[in-house]
Amino acid sequence: MKSLNIGICGWGNVATGMFKALNDNADAIKLNSGCSFEVKVIGARRDNPKCNPGDTKILRDIFEVVDCDVDVIVELIGGVDVARELILKAISNKKHVITANKAVIFHHGDEIFNAANKNGVKVLFEAAVCAGTPIIKLLSEELAANNISKISGMLNGTSNFILSNMEEGSEFKPTLELAQKEGYAEPDPAFDIEGMDAAHKIGILSSIAFGTPLPPEDFYIEGITSIEKSDFTYASDMGYTIKHLAVAKLENESLELRAHPALIRKSSHLANLTGVRNGMEIDTDLIGKIHIAGSGAGQESTASGLISDLVHLSNCPDVSSDESQKVKTTYKLNNFNDLVFQYYFYLEAEDKPGVMASITSMLASKKVGIESIVQKEDHGKNSVPIILITDPFKEHDHAELQKELLELDSVKAVRSIRIEAE
Ligand SMILES: NC(=O)c1ccc[n+]([C@@H]2O[C@H](COP(=O)([O-])OP(=O)(O)OC[C@H]3O[C@@H](n4cnc5c(N)ncnc54)[C@H](OP(=O)(O)O)[C@@H]3O)[C@@H](O)[C@H]2O)c1
Repeated sequence: MKSLNIGICGWGNVATGMFKALNDNADAIKLNSGCSFEVKVIGARRDNPKCNPGDTKILRDIFEVVDCDVDVIVELIGGVDVARELILKAISNKKHVITANKAVIFHHGDEIFNAANKNGVKVLFEAAVCAGTPIIKLLSEELAANNISKISGMLNGTSNFILSNMEEGSEFKPTLELAQKEGYAEPDPAFDIEGMDAAHKIGILSSIAFGTPLPPEDFYIEGITSIEKSDFTYASDMGYTIKHLAVAKLENESLELRAHPALIRKSSHLANLTGVRNGMEIDTDLIGKIHIAGSGAGQESTASGLISDLVHLSNCPDVSSDESQKVKTTYKLNNFNDLVFQYYFYLEAEDKPGVMASITSMLASKKVGIESIVQKEDHGKNSVPIILITDPFKEHDHAELQKELLELDSVKAVRSIRIEAE
């Protein structure tokens, strides 16, 4: 029987969830993996009424945990600076580290992996991306024989929950409030709905799939706050739905990284993943496209990811950090402005003759082709919605086109969403 002694730092949602899962599922863990784990010490600056740690030793200073006689520190405090300091101290004390903290891995991953390599310990972070959905080990182990060319998907459960509900007819604000009530969104949801959480995750996945550095160079990040309920109706009429997509793509030695809302075909695999689920499509050379989906947050799902790292560690504790063994490659990061998309435009225009002509001639003057343009039913505000799908053109011209459309006399409002090519 392989066994590990564990020190947990932090005593919030995820830490208590892991503690409970280690106890409640101890038999399943032993049966499935042949491993057993004991939490020897918990670093908690206060008690958590939702979980009784029994006889487990509690230290009020989380930094004292890394001095204890344990094999692995599980960092579950979140945030960046203190977490980085704690992880580096654990590593210098020759402790393995497991973390669910995507922010610290995104910002300081390479520094942490290098330190782990020097000290002969491992740093594992399966739960940092999509919680229990096993994407990290899938990329770094199961797909190791493949050249991966693209990873794309919905990496933020809160955004997917909100967008799926809007697709069913809800407005953004009440859906966000519902997500907060159900525990799917933080009291301050900015990190999720403005796209940062998904961006952190795709940056980490890129580092694993393509060996790119952490942190990555700055890349384009946009959230879901400007999507309207009616966009789903218009998108649906054309066979699309709207998702928040994070994309990492390697082509001709150039890297594409981006996280933003996009229209995707309703017939696609990703379109059918609704609610808080995360889902990804991975393009590989040996086995073609792989799809993986599952819960991307929550106590139990995150516990599953953390315990999978404990099992991995107890099966091969003597090798240094896997990630630090990789040769990092700095590819040229494609300028987002040079990428080419088709665009969905919603225009709210006065209901009077000549409006369509003024829009189409403006697009023609900009050499932007039109795939379709449809005038929808009157809003009842003496304005009509016009839905325009352009031919592909460069992102560089997108903002300018949007501005000039808005400057047309008859146009009162304009918004747009990129269309993801199949
Ligand atoms: N929640 C999820 O579904 C989920 C999923 C995947 C990954 N994660 C990641 O898991 C980590 C933990 O998330 P969580 O949801 O468990 O957060 P949480 O409920 O807020 O718990 C954080 C814990 O860390 C403690 N802590 C924070 N800063 C500290 C400091 N400077 N010194 C000492 N203790 C400190 C907090 O203590 P106080 O209570 O005293 O503030 C609390 O016990 C984060 O990195 C998060 O991104 C979470």
